Amino acid sequence: MSGKLVIGNWKMNTRADSAQALASALLDHAATNREGVGIAAPAVYLAALAQTLKGSHLALSAQDVSRFAADGAYTGETSAAMLADIGCRYALVGHSERRQYFGEDNAALLQKMRNAIAAGVTPVLCVGEMLEQREAGQYLEIIAAQLAILPELTDGDYVIAYEPVWAIGTGKVATLEQIAEIHAFIKNWCLQNIGSSDKIRVLYGGSVKAENAEAILATENVDGALVGGASLDADSFRVVCQAA
Ligand code: 13P
Repeated sequence: MSGKLVIGNWKMNTRADSAQALASALLDHAATNREGVGIAAPAVYLAALAQTLKGSHLALSAQDVSRFAADGAYTGETSAAMLADIGCRYALVGHSERRQYFGEDNAALLQKMRNAIAAGVTPVLCVGEMLEQREAGQYLEIIAAQLAILPELTDGDYVIAYEPVWAIGTGKVATLEQIAEIHAFIKNWCLQNIGSSDKIRVLYGGSVKAENAEAILATENVDGALVGGASLDADSFRVVCQAA
């Protein structure tokens, strides 16, 4: 496994100008313009950002990818081949906001994972429990059920991101003990069900910011971070990346 990976998920934020300004600010610093750092920008800005990032070390990521692989009548969709075509290195798959607002289920997510891998785009599968599932003590089963698509993938690299839904955009960070427990659980699950875990990076996401990044990134089995709100500010994102 290579070093830690930090991806900034801009979600549905920025405009053409501010996206370029943010990318340029990240390119200006060695802490962010390096291997192991990426930005997941809105689909509409990806092609322009690919030009801006050309020749840099900063990787481009999509926030989603179509479940359909071949070109055709799928209005509104962006295929894995299109992402590869403009130089996207990663694609988020199954972010909790996609699961929640767009009803993405395991069958769709497996197709997305397969399509991304086949096109040479590394998928980042997002998993995580909701607050009521944690409070009901069901979180390990929920995460295992979300991971259950992985043994279907016979080849290719992917990344897993653990994002407890109750910690996303809430300012409520999981404790280091909670993070360590789930990351160990995911690594162990991969070992048991896929036969290996050392190649798979497991990122943590959920209110990661300048103030807590160092402790989170130093936690056992945390191989990087998926950063939402704090990735929209170049200075904050830089501090997070410096901790990786
Ligand atoms: P926040 O960092 O804003 O909590 O978002 C986390 C996230 O969903 C990243 O994908």
